[in-house]
Amino acid sequence: MAAATPASPRGSGAPDFVVGPLDLVAHVDEALAVQAVAFGLSQDEIDVRRHIVLRHLDHPQARALGATTPAGRLVGFVYGLPNNRAHWWSTVVEPYLRATGSERWLDDSFVITELHVHPDFQQRGIGRSLITTITDAVVQPRSILSAIDTESPARGLYRALGYQDLARQVLFPSAPMPYAVMGAPLPLRRR
Ligand SMILES: CC(C)(COP(=O)(O)OP(=O)(O)OC[C@H]1O[C@@H](n2cnc3c(N)ncnc32)[C@H](O)[C@@H]1OP(=O)(O)O)[C@@H](O)C(=O)NCCC(=O)NCCS
Repeated sequence: MAAATPASPRGSGAPDFVVGPLDLVAHVDEALAVQAVAFGLSQDEIDVRRHIVLRHLDHPQARALGATTPAGRLVGFVYGLPNNRAHWWSTVVEPYLRATGSERWLDDSFVITELHVHPDFQQRGIGRSLITTITDAVVQPRSILSAIDTESPARGLYRALGYQDLARQVLFPSAPMPYAVMGAPLPLRRR
């Protein structure tokens, strides 16, 4: 597991959050509350996500990290697991990656399943710290993820870390917006 990493807002001194291992099963409601406000989730969507998160965390190599304030408030989290071609996400993206000749990214790859930072705590380096810390600790040589296919802070962050587009306009059943699938070699690029 990754060691806890104190971090500071850019240009200031005292750490205002700590990134470290997160027991996401125990803290699933706090995490989903962060995701709900960061990403926009209805109560119905939160209930669906809770089942999905808990199922993912059954995987022995699933990893989760949280960003916590000194007062113990969870303000960001990331989790992921090694890709499995039999899993739903992989079966959806596979034909798109095959079409662009990037299907090999589905093997020996660590999937970033969720990454969210509470809006009040964004643009302080928390997202960057969460994703670099979690991927630094995995054995896979590459990482893949999907993000809504629009110019968002998430897409900016992923590109800055070395993720490149593997497929665009990927349609997940029931998702209203198309996604981009992105992949990066590990370790992620540093500033
Ligand atoms: C994406 C997200 C996790 C980033 O977290 P964050 O803590 O604000 O990000 P950081 O402060 O670590 O920023 C790191 C880099 O991301 C990019 N970035 C962050 N905010 C950005 C913005 N508003 N516009 C453009 N790029 C941005 C920049 O490259 C930045 O590096 P820089 O400061 O050196 O320019 C956060 O914006 C979020 O939770 N968004 C809503 C939920 C979401 O979209 N999650 C991803 C689902 S795929």
